[in-house]
Amino acid sequence: MIEATPDTANSILDHLTRAVVVVDGQCRVQRLNSAAESLFQVSTRQAMNESLMQLFPGLTVLDEAIGQALEQGASYTEREIRVVMGADRTVTVDCAITPMQGPALLLEFEQIDRHLRISRENRLIAQNQAIRELIRGLAHEIKNPLGGLRGAAQLLESELENADQREYTGIIISEADRLRALVNGLLGPDVRLERQPTNLHEVLERVRHLAIAEAPSGLSIVRDYDPSIPLLPAAGDQLIQALLNLVRNALQALGDNGTITLQTRTQRRFTIAETQHRLVARIDVKDDGPGIPAALQDQIFYPMVTGRAQGSGIGLPIAQTLVNQHGGLIECSSEPGCTVFTVWLPLEMDND
Ligand SMILES: Nc1ncnc2c1ncn2[C@@H]1O[C@H](COP(=O)(O)OP(=O)(O)OP(=O)(O)O)[C@@H](O)[C@H]1O
Ligand SMILES: [Mg+2]
Repeated sequence: MIEATPDTANSILDHLTRAVVVVDGQCRVQRLNSAAESLFQVSTRQAMNESLMQLFPGLTVLDEAIGQALEQGASYTEREIRVVMGADRTVTVDCAITPMQGPALLLEFEQIDRHLRISRENRLIAQNQAIRELIRGLAHEIKNPLGGLRGAAQLLESELENADQREYTGIIISEADRLRALVNGLLGPDVRLERQPTNLHEVLERVRHLAIAEAPSGLSIVRDYDPSIPLLPAAGDQLIQALLNLVRNALQALGDNGTITLQTRTQRRFTIAETQHRLVARIDVKDDGPGIPAALQDQIFYPMVTGRAQGSGIGLPIAQTLVNQHGGLIECSSEPGCTVFTVWLPLEMDND
C-alpha cells in the first residue's frame, strides 16, 4: 500500500505521460507536471503564477470553455487544438478541463499529432496498395486483347493495297500503342530496386538541374540542404524520377513566377508504416503557388486524378510507389501560397 502523502501525489503527477496543468480562478498557472513542462517547453519556475494565455497565446481558443467551466463547475473537452509554440513548432492537442475546489481548474493535455499522422499515413499506404492491385488486374485484361488487336491490324495492313485504307490500320496501331503506353505508365516501374549507398544531395542536384532547364526565367529554385545527411540505400535513378515528378508539379503549378524550395533534414527515431527507424531523411519540396484545389486534396495520389488540362494524373502515384519501394512515404500539405510535398526515407543501410 502506497502512503498518500503530498510527495507521493506529486511524484505520481510527474510520472503521468499526460500533460497536466492546474490554474487558479484567474487562469494563472499553479502547478505543472513534467509532461506539461516538456510539451510546452517551459519550466515550473518560469510558468508559476503567470497567466496561461500569456504564456501560450495558442491556447486562447480555450478561453470560452475555461470561463464556462469556472462559472458552471462543469467539465469540458476540446479536441484537436493547434497550439503555436514558437516560430517552427506547432502541436495538436486534445484538452480536458475539470473544475476543482479553490476555485481552480485541472487541464489535461494529450498530444495527438502522432495519432493523426499515423492514421493518415496508414490510409495513404493502404490506398496505394489497393490502387496498385486494381490496376494490375485491369492492365492484364487490357494488354492481352490489345496485343491481339494490334497484331491483327498489322496483318491487315500488309494485305491492303490501297494507301487510303492503310491510313485506318495505321490509326488502330498507333492508338493501340498509345493505350499500351498509358497502361504501362499506370503500372509504374516494375524493376527490382538495386539499392546502393546514394548521396541524396547529388540526386537533388540532378533534379534541380533538370528542372532549371524546363523552368521559365521568373522562377527560382532555392536549396536548403543539411550537409550532415549520410548516404542512403537507394536506387538513384528511381529517386530522381520520384523527386522530379514532385518538382515538375510545382513548376506547372507556379507558371511563370514563384519559388521552389528543396529542403533536406534528418529526423531521429521516426516511424514510417509502423516500422520504427533510427534515422530518416526528410525532403521537402515546397512551392509558393496557388495550392492544390481543395476538391482534389484527398485524391491526388490516385491515378488519373489531375487538375491540369494536359495532365494524365500518374506522376504522383508513380512517385509514391517508388518512395514506398524504398521503405519511405510521401505526404502532402497544401494551402494557397504554400504547398509542401514531404518525402520520408529511412537511412539505415540494413533496412529492406
Ligand atoms: N505543387 C502543386 N501545386 C498545386 N497542385 C498540385 C501540385 N502538385 C500536384 N498538384 C495537383 O495534383 C494533380 C495530380 O498530380 P500528378 O503529378 O499525379 O498528375 P499530373 O501532374 O496532373 O499529370 P502527370 O504528372 O501524369 O503529367 C495535379 O494535376 C495538380 O492538380
Ligand atoms: Mg505531375
